[in-house]
Amino acid sequence: VPNLYVARHGTSVFNLENRVGGDSPLAQAGHQQAKRLAATFRDTPLSMVFTSTRRRTRQTAAYVLEAQQTAPPLYSMELFDEIDCGICEEMDYEEVKRRRPDVHRGRVEDKYNFVYPGGEGYRNMRARIERGVRKALYLSGGSRHILIIGHRAVNRLILSYFLYRRPADVPYLYIPQDRYFHISCAQNERRIRLRPLLS
Ligand code: G3H
Repeated sequence: VPNLYVARHGTSVFNLENRVGGDSPLAQAGHQQAKRLAATFRDTPLSMVFTSTRRRTRQTAAYVLEAQQTAPPLYSMELFDEIDCGICEEMDYEEVKRRRPDVHRGRVEDKYNFVYPGGEGYRNMRARIERGVRKALYLSGGSRHILIIGHRAVNRLILSYFLYRRPADVPYLYIPQDRYFHISCAQNERRIRLRPLLS
């Protein structure tokens, strides 16, 4: 694909509360970021937009679709849903530390291989995300501009699909909510650039 853009949903209510999982809507700041994302892509004719099935990614996408000259099709795929935190879903990080010190310790020691009890881990999520990327590329069939609006753990794995990262580093990749990644392939070079949103 010539241009794949990978963005994260805007700040959600749970992000502000440091909570993981769940299906919270965007917070006020998230609506602002989503509007900036939409403005950033206003003059880029997107041929397809992919999100997870979560509200925060779909709400973010709604602004982008609305700003396009011709609204591209939207695919909301479970394959791009955020890491399933199992018994820790909807807890905040302090709560996890207090109520499930084993989970906290396990993630500090080996975040990539750790699997949330009743949920997922980075390592076993990898196949799902790869399937999502392949499906997105297949559906978009060589289109020029494709946008995926994902989540922090999801986007970390998407980036490492395109450019190898040591597994231990993957769960620590920086995935801001007010910037996006531009992945491009040309002349045998694959590039990943972190770009700012229009303000
Ligand atoms: O809800 C999950 C987080 O966005 C993923 O981040 O693996 O660093 O806790 P984490």
